[in-house]
Amino acid sequence: MTSPMLFTPFTLGNVTFPNRVVVSPMCQYEAVDGYVQDWHRAHHARFALGGVGGAVVEATGVTAEGRITPSCLGIWDDSQIDGLATITALYRKYGIPTGIQLGHSGRKGSSASPWDGAGPLDPSSPEAWQTVAPGAVPHSEGWPAPHALEADEIGEIVDAFAAAAKRAVAAGFDFVEIHGAHGYLIHTFISPLSNTRTDSYGGSFENRIRLALEVTEAVRAAIPADMPLFYRASAVDHAEGGLDIGDTVRLAKALKEKRVDLIDCSAGGINGPVARTRIPQTPGHQIPYADEIRRDADIATMAVGLITDAAQAEAVIAEGKADLVALGRELLSDPAFGYHAAVQLGLADPESVLPKNYGFYLSRRREALARHGKS
Ligand SMILES: Cc1cc2nc3c(=O)[nH]c(=O)nc-3n(C[C@H](O)[C@H](O)[C@H](O)COP(=O)(O)O)c2cc1C
Repeated sequence: MTSPMLFTPFTLGNVTFPNRVVVSPMCQYEAVDGYVQDWHRAHHARFALGGVGGAVVEATGVTAEGRITPSCLGIWDDSQIDGLATITALYRKYGIPTGIQLGHSGRKGSSASPWDGAGPLDPSSPEAWQTVAPGAVPHSEGWPAPHALEADEIGEIVDAFAAAAKRAVAAGFDFVEIHGAHGYLIHTFISPLSNTRTDSYGGSFENRIRLALEVTEAVRAAIPADMPLFYRASAVDHAEGGLDIGDTVRLAKALKEKRVDLIDCSAGGINGPVARTRIPQTPGHQIPYADEIRRDADIATMAVGLITDAAQAEAVIAEGKADLVALGRELLSDPAFGYHAAVQLGLADPESVLPKNYGFYLSRRREALARHGKS
């Protein structure tokens, strides 16, 4: 038996994650008018029963126009709280802290689901909407020009984040994540590749991060003081003239001052004319960003990106490269990753990560198999 670090608890503010494996936010493209459906409950129940230590619900629009596709979740109206509360209830029953990713899609909104090509909806379609951005620069060739936000419209979006955060608390979420990555609104303000403004929201680094900081302040003020606040950043743009890790360390320091507790370290997505459309994906390719931000900005981090096996996840935590690991596609493939990792890493009583309804039988099975030299 060993004591894997992956299965040690981690406390931030008033929340203790029972282990370090977290469900990464994953859009399901199954919402109707922003409302939670049975699919969302089924999706999250798979993880709630499989041994994760935390979960982040998918990018959820703080306004209807802030959704990515018409089938994305929304949190712009009080009537959306009850559906979201059915997801938090699922996880709460098994002691798993749950967060929600609050997002605004910006110029990447009004788009089709991935299996329909993920391109922009035809602007004449009744489902399409006018997108917004720091400037009237399309996401890439073939995308409609977004509306360049006026200063008062930026203020309305900041207010929408705050109102959404209040609804998240009402829905029973234990923490909130601000979506500042992947070429969506906040990221388009931060990246010099997409921010063409000449007012106080454009130009210098301080001006480009202004929206991120204003959203953070507004969300922080809207949630309990001891509730953890996560921020997902695209640590690098992977494009000439775009954001590099030094910029994101600076951003992380500024966010920490505004009482962000953890940086969820993703990358890419800005997709401007000079950007590469895809970042090269190799196993654990974004772990170095979580490591560097954790060290240089002295803030907790979550690593994500092709983390697919127990030893790799354990090394991230044991080597102090991040405080949490987020898994997306691996959990789609194996929702019991947490349990399987506990067995593989030699955790004493690995079934303790499962609800008793499964754990009781699986521990007996494991013992029976062990008697026959099988694991
Ligand atoms: C189906 C799907 C939906 C996703 N939706 C979101 C999302 O809502 N917000 C977000 O920040 N990232 C989203 N992502 C990215 C994941 O959170 C994660 O960062 C990425 O898949 C890399 O991790 P993985 O290799 O473990 O899948 C999505 C990924 C997938 C596969």
